[in-house]
Amino acid sequence: MSKKQPVVQNAKVITNIPGPQSKQLRAQEDKYLADGLQGFATMSGIVVDKAEGNVVTDVDGNELLDIIGGIGVNGLGHSHPVFVNAMKEQLEQASVGSFTSKARVEFLTKFQEVAPGKLNKVQFYSGGSEAVESAIRLSKDYTGKFEMVSFNGAFHGKTHGTLGLMGSDFKKPYGPFAPGCHQIPYADCYRCPLKMKHPTCSLACVDVAKHQLKNNTSKGVAAIIAEPMQGTAGNIIPPDDFLPAIKNMAEELDALFIADEMICGFGRTGKFWGTSHSGVTPDIMTVGKLFGGGFPVSGLITTEEIAKTKPWGNPSGSSSSYGGNPLASQAANTSLEIIQNENLVENSRIVGKYFLDQLKPFEDKYPFIGLVDGRGLFIRIELVENKATKEPLAKAKCSKLFDTFLQRGLLTMSYAPHFRIQPALILDTGTVDNIVSIMRKVFDNFKH
Ligand SMILES: Cc1ncc(COP(=O)(O)O)c(C=O)c1O
Repeated sequence: MSKKQPVVQNAKVITNIPGPQSKQLRAQEDKYLADGLQGFATMSGIVVDKAEGNVVTDVDGNELLDIIGGIGVNGLGHSHPVFVNAMKEQLEQASVGSFTSKARVEFLTKFQEVAPGKLNKVQFYSGGSEAVESAIRLSKDYTGKFEMVSFNGAFHGKTHGTLGLMGSDFKKPYGPFAPGCHQIPYADCYRCPLKMKHPTCSLACVDVAKHQLKNNTSKGVAAIIAEPMQGTAGNIIPPDDFLPAIKNMAEELDALFIADEMICGFGRTGKFWGTSHSGVTPDIMTVGKLFGGGFPVSGLITTEEIAKTKPWGNPSGSSSSYGGNPLASQAANTSLEIIQNENLVENSRIVGKYFLDQLKPFEDKYPFIGLVDGRGLFIRIELVENKATKEPLAKAKCSKLFDTFLQRGLLTMSYAPHFRIQPALILDTGTVDNIVSIMRKVFDNFKH
């Protein structure tokens, strides 16, 4: 068996998608599976048979190129052979319980090479929201304060604590939220909330935020939490001076700065951390998604001083049932090993730039593409009704685009006007050419 992922992969479509076998299995499943699955899984209607590298093969034999990448989970490419072997071996060896394993020791030791600043203490969890919940608890313990600041457009999970941090109307049915949650503007310069231009704005959004917090907070802010680049809001990349200004604001408030690196971390944006682009070191970092190479592992990373805080740092104070068990530790350990051995951070930077260079001319070519932006393999396409007004493309038109891509064998997130692209970090330029060729054909024929 090869130890590497395949290159120059392409789509092969042999039926309408979904094909007959997929339809039959989906009908069987739909009787019993609750509604509310991730949109692309429901909309594509496919049943997966196997997946390798950048290609998902359905039960009808269609081979689909995947630029959704499990919305940021798929860093190593599907079923990386080194990962598969390591997990098989670990499963035979030991899998359950919080005891120390060789894999965990190895991971923690190796992690020190990539840890930012003094952030050398890691606690493990199994989902992203769980890690963010833990970061909320820890910052409350450390500062003795309770208010939390997050951003418009923010997404940190769907548990109750993280819902209070959410910057979109998804949360509306679930209030009241934890007291003391505040949202401030994020620097999405394409749709600047103040209708200004960077850098002449001198980050006016941060001034607005300071004013807002001065008047609206009560007993004091425990932490400001930010995605270094916002994923769910549409792969939004703020200017490099934004995060330093936010960190500065946190210091002024005597609050901690939490970077939620769930999507950006481990090379997604072409540097190891999303915060590496602006040189900011957070006090706490939350990680997940490609951290575990596809296995559900998330984590909280902080300094020794902060991690010592009680009661978070008491025995069982920051633990969970699955956090850091031998299987999870092996997943994190092997994922980091592959990222390092195969230079995937650098690959993300280089291939991401190549991909972006192919897509950037689309801004001029197509009337319905308002913006193409990207860092590494984290790419944003804004689909619009009108370039001047930037009105988002109607949902029904996005759905049509999604289905047209699907029929040509490309799995995308084009079902929303904030079209997000985050393929596996093992992507190669030959496969990018094949992806872009499909995108050109679909966009050339799209009547908006
Ligand atoms: C930045 C960020 N934080 C937290 C989460 C929540 O992760 P999970 O879905 O594993 O709970 C997500 C998920 O998309 C995310 O993008």
